[in-house]
Amino acid sequence: MGLIVPDAIERYLASLNHAGGGVLDDIARGNRERGLPLVDAEVGALLRTLAIAVNAARILEIGTAIGYSGIWLAGALPPGGMLITMEMDEARAREARENFARAGVADRVSVVVGDAQLKLAKVSGPFDVIFQDGDKQQYEPMLDRLVALLRPRGLLVTDNVLWDGEIRPTPTRSPGTTRGSRLTPICSPRSCRCATACPFR
Ligand SMILES: C[S@@+](CC[C@H](N)C(=O)[O-])C[C@H]1O[C@@H](n2cnc3c(N)ncnc32)[C@H](O)[C@@H]1O
Repeated sequence: MGLIVPDAIERYLASLNHAGGGVLDDIARGNRERGLPLVDAEVGALLRTLAIAVNAARILEIGTAIGYSGIWLAGALPPGGMLITMEMDEARAREARENFARAGVADRVSVVVGDAQLKLAKVSGPFDVIFQDGDKQQYEPMLDRLVALLRPRGLLVTDNVLWDGEIRPTPTRSPGTTRGSRLTPICSPRSCRCATACPFR
């Protein structure tokens, strides 16, 4: 649990939400001991809801890990839709491909293996939704490229901008806090962009 939402509220929200079922539940269960930093079911459901809300047919994800958030996102796609998801760790990318196949979405997911900072130069937009969940140090350096890849009125979702509540207006506590303070440009107004940060996790 993070510092942002009280545990009781987290538990209440989890009880209201559906975990996703099938392969998603399997991955989440299997990850309890393994501890990969996957989004949890509430965030997965939010991602799917947002993608459906903007009628997303092309989605880009930075940071596949083993495909958990990708399965949530792929579930929002209409026939013919496509999720391109980037992962630099080959073993994780392999496992993600297996999980996409198990979830029955492999036909609409392309896993790109390599450093997203390099791969982004070669990918063609526009994307309706981009989910940024890779190395947090690269969030800001990638920002302009990601915005350029979005369609007009497209949606960029960036995970963990509050670092589980570690962010403070005056960074004093830890290297993580200082690192996080560099993320604020993501939420600063730029022309053609409407941005907000949500106190979720
Ligand atoms: C937080 S995990 C992603 C979790 C996944 N989105 C989920 O919720 O199921 C971040 C992943 O991004 C990958 N990653 C970090 N920097 C990257 C980069 N520059 N290019 C591609 N993948 C990267 C890491 O190897 C890691 O597997």
